[in-house]
Amino acid sequence: MFYTKTILNKYPKEQRYLLAVLQDIQKKYNYLPRGALIMVQEYFDVPLSKLYSMATFYKALSLKPKGKYIIRVCDGTACHIRGSALIIDEIHRLLNILPGDTTEDGNFSLETVNCLGSCALAPVMVINDKYYGNVTPALVRRILKEYGGVNCEHIQEKG
Ligand code: FES
Repeated sequence: MFYTKTILNKYPKEQRYLLAVLQDIQKKYNYLPRGALIMVQEYFDVPLSKLYSMATFYKALSLKPKGKYIIRVCDGTACHIRGSALIIDEIHRLLNILPGDTTEDGNFSLETVNCLGSCALAPVMVINDKYYGNVTPALVRRILKEYGGVNCEHIQEKG
């Protein structure tokens, strides 16, 4: 937990910095390891339960390890109307994960999010920081293949 110590040392021991610290830890490890939360608890002298409730309240924080590539499918109104469910279905078919899951090899996590502010391009999907608009199931297959996530030879092409 060397990095957690380095992160903590950057912040004064004031509770208003809690969220920033958790975000930094999340960024470093891609989730909040229990050992790191215990260090935060001791540093700020706050109950561990407070840290857990923050971790579950803020979507950007996670108690479970996340994949190397985080796929976010927008399920806001515009995207929903224009087929975001089909995108989620296709990801499920190809990677065998549902929203909230991570693939067994630790490469991909899937999440749904609310409006990403690009409704004109609905349905929208983001992988890490890269946006994809007007996504179709066929495009999902091509994109995931680029990320090395799909061995398309054994998956029957459709649509
Ligand atoms: S509803 Fe998906 S970008 Fe706005």
